[in-house]
Amino acid sequence: MTLWVNGTVVPEDAPVVRADDHGLVVGDGVFETIAVSGGVPFALTRHLRRLARSAAGLGIHVDEGQVRAGVAAVLADAPDPARLRVTVTGGPSPYGSDRGDATPTVLVATAPLAPWPPTTEVVIVPWTRNERSATVGLKTTSYADNVVALRHAHSRGAAEAMFANTRGDLCEGTGSNVFHEYDGELVTPPLTSGCLAGVTRELLIEWLVADGAPVRELAVPIDALRSCREAFLTSTTRDVMPISHVDGVELVEAPGPLTRHAAEVFARRAAESPDP
Ligand SMILES: Cc1ncc(COP(=O)(O)O)c(C=O)c1O
Repeated sequence: MTLWVNGTVVPEDAPVVRADDHGLVVGDGVFETIAVSGGVPFALTRHLRRLARSAAGLGIHVDEGQVRAGVAAVLADAPDPARLRVTVTGGPSPYGSDRGDATPTVLVATAPLAPWPPTTEVVIVPWTRNERSATVGLKTTSYADNVVALRHAHSRGAAEAMFANTRGDLCEGTGSNVFHEYDGELVTPPLTSGCLAGVTRELLIEWLVADGAPVRELAVPIDALRSCREAFLTSTTRDVMPISHVDGVELVEAPGPLTRHAAEVFARRAAESPDP
């Protein structure tokens, strides 16, 4: 792993964060995970835009030039394929929810990107996403809900946990967005469901629409995931990944025709430019 912290490349096991860093103390931070292939990051500009948006939501200023310098520094030694992780925290702060006025801590790291299996099982978890939360739509480092949900999924033999929101509508996974068949059409939860505006989700919607394929942002009860013919997850590390089982019950098709088409369009368009 290569690690860059606040302007300097350091050994991956170097002590780099103070005990009073607000990211450590209360999860006051934001992050991005970016896929790297052949040393080239995918959709870096969109990821850095979301990083700035997430940070602004917490009142943290991100210096994009600084982050890009960190990215350039670690990409030189990146494994292939790699995941690039950018984390910005509130920095050294008083112990408590108040951040104080310290300079943010900026960390950029690379690590090997392990391949996913061709399909995935998911389980629906009993906890909710809060679509009215103060941090809705922000990719913050406060991921403890996801840690608990993913452990729950793993204990049931699934690789991803699916959340409903407080209205009972399908929302997203711990680290993925979801698309599924509904009345023969491809649909995905709208951002008002409380899901993250996934970069993969956003690109796929744009590219499907440009390809003339109907895809609709539609709020549906989470039970629709159990009764659909086909469904898939999207994320930076997965691209388009067919869902084979929901709560242990096999879907009719994995991948079905909507999923195959989405995967084909995504792969084709992603190959055209590394920074769409
Ligand atoms: C909660 C959540 N939803 C969705 C996604 C998918 O977003 P992206 O396609 O930008 O990776 C992620 C990414 O890790 C996530 O953490």
